[in-house]
Amino acid sequence: MRELLMEIQGISKTYGSDSNKVQAVDNVSFDIERGSWTAIVGPSGHGKSTLLQIMGGLDRSSAGTIILDDKNLSQLNNRQLAQLRANKIGFVFQFFNLLPHLTALENVVLPLWLNKKWLNEKRLNGKKDLQKCLALLERVGLADKANNLPSTLSGGQQQRVAIARALVNEPDILLMDEPTGNLDSVSEADVLALFKELNDQGSTLVLITHSSAVASCAEREIELIDGRLCKEVSA
Ligand SMILES: Nc1ncnc2c1ncn2[C@@H]1O[C@H](COP(=O)(O)OP(=O)(O)OP(=O)(O)O)[C@@H](O)[C@H]1O
Ligand SMILES: [Mg+2]
Repeated sequence: MRELLMEIQGISKTYGSDSNKVQAVDNVSFDIERGSWTAIVGPSGHGKSTLLQIMGGLDRSSAGTIILDDKNLSQLNNRQLAQLRANKIGFVFQFFNLLPHLTALENVVLPLWLNKKWLNEKRLNGKKDLQKCLALLERVGLADKANNLPSTLSGGQQQRVAIARALVNEPDILLMDEPTGNLDSVSEADVLALFKELNDQGSTLVLITHSSAVASCAEREIELIDGRLCKEVSA
């Protein structure tokens, strides 16, 4: 029996008011176990990104509760929420969002140092931190690209740097919004193989995808239609 990691309980999100009210997410509940791999699927505009952002504490719900590792996200203030995001959650986005003037290695080390500064950790160990980040780049198959700028990397390689960056603070869960949405089929297969490896090694993955090839690799698919959880399929 796996440990329960995140509880999503009756989450709703409404944007706007009165006549231009949009119910983006409507009373969604499900659990995520540690070490599991969940794919969120559904048509465009039906609430997938909104739900993922609420799960990651990037946005607040209109109703409902998210519990991560015994912490109720809606009871945290903005500073506590930012700290929880930095320590417990890794984000990966469709357009990589790497800083263009930093090398691959610098992009990976940045959130580690920001987090240590945030925690007022006095003992920044530059050499050890860089070694950790190099090991992460090696893990995603990019040891030889550590000093490359993002513009000199392919889309698939940039996404692997972004995945290494998401892992640097050793998060409990990786939340990924269409992580292969901007990749060709060969790069998609590469990144997908990396997800399998990470999941085999114990990482908890939640990803939004429009690709049936990606969704079918997950152990569970959750479908959102009109913001409602309408189907849950386990592999
Ligand atoms: N900040 C916002 N303000 C107002 N409405 C919003 C906002 N963000 C999202 N919405 C609306 O909420 C609904 C759900 O949007 P969301 O981005 O979650 O969809 P999605 O399923 O991720 O779509 P896609 O597959 O195209 O990325 C849409 O109708 C969208 O227009
Ligand atoms: Mg989206």
